Amino acid sequence: MSFNNIVTLSTGQKLPQIGLGTWLSRPGEVENAVEIAIRHGYRHIDCALIYQNQHEVGTALKRVIPSVVKREELFITSKLWNHNHAPENVEKELDETLSQLGLDYIDLYLIHWPVAFPAGKLFTPHPEKAEIQVIDDIPLAETWKAMLKLPATGKVKAVGVSNFSIKHLQGLHDATGVWPVANQIERHPLNPQWELVKWCQERGIHITAYSPLGNNITGKQKLVDYAEVKAIADRLGATPAQVLVSWGAYDGCSVIPKSVQKDRIISNFQQVKLSQEDYEAISAIGKNNHLRFNVPFRYCTESDPKWDVNIFDEEDEKAATHQIRVV
Ligand SMILES: NC(=O)c1ccc[n+]([C@@H]2O[C@H](COP(=O)([O-])OP(=O)(O)OC[C@H]3O[C@@H](n4cnc5c(N)ncnc54)[C@H](OP(=O)(O)O)[C@@H]3O)[C@@H](O)[C@H]2O)c1
Repeated sequence: MSFNNIVTLSTGQKLPQIGLGTWLSRPGEVENAVEIAIRHGYRHIDCALIYQNQHEVGTALKRVIPSVVKREELFITSKLWNHNHAPENVEKELDETLSQLGLDYIDLYLIHWPVAFPAGKLFTPHPEKAEIQVIDDIPLAETWKAMLKLPATGKVKAVGVSNFSIKHLQGLHDATGVWPVANQIERHPLNPQWELVKWCQERGIHITAYSPLGNNITGKQKLVDYAEVKAIADRLGATPAQVLVSWGAYDGCSVIPKSVQKDRIISNFQQVKLSQEDYEAISAIGKNNHLRFNVPFRYCTESDPKWDVNIFDEEDEKAATHQIRVV
């Protein structure tokens, strides 16, 4: 059975619960992947300027709109990269994204990370320590105010954030009185972020779970290979990836698995009904075992007093030194 569940956002928009991720899809792969996905029922595609492949997504969209789907049947998300947090750059980067995707509007636009890089370059590593990224002193609330102006332009239907902690979200609300429509976060059994998810859901902030298969850029064991996941998948006659996608969707989050392989794109979209017992068994994987895969950069030195909010929540001990200013 296809995973056709729809969730309703605080704006009233209908979001197809399962979407296709497009990060790390190499040139020549993502165009095909997006076309296959849409031909097999996906209606939600997750993009970002920093994935540097949106023009290919756009080519695929041209192939399927309107012959396979109408534009309004699709839900397209994209994200503002860290080097364009300056308020005057926010709409300009959105225009670039729209041009790459060949669209007049997108459905959801997110601040990709709660950290600003200097304008002009996608990445600016610190000259003395290449693994430390130079950051810029632009308060998140100023970027958020610029984001809030975008729906009135007709170029986006809604705005939200990604990788934001409770403190970041509260800071945005304190400054503007407006919650983001969604917070896209890394979420899988090894990084379930229970407290953040519950806190957001209580405030009507939709959670999208990224890296739901535990995409492992650090080379550790993949979640699809965990014995607990495989055992439940075998018993249900499902794939481990289907079990993980269903785990992610169990409490109402949307889930955006990435694949560029036709059989996986299709099978990841097949719904598996998890019992409460199976859900709890998968959740238990993370009890004594916590892993976050997306810790892309050290954003500043540990003792820099300018930054007063942790970039990640306390669950992640390794990231406790990353501090970012909200207002
Ligand atoms: N907001 C953010 O900061 C952020 C960060 C990371 C990700 N994201 C978004 O979330 C999406 C998904 O996350 P992700 O790409 O990090 O990881 P993911 O979806 O958890 O995992 C993708 C990996 O799993 C493989 N895979 C896919 N289906 C599979 C299956 N059925 N069995 C076994 N392996 C399978 C893929 O390889 P193949 O392609 O070869 O199948 C790829 O290596 C991204 O593409 C992106 O759109 C957002």
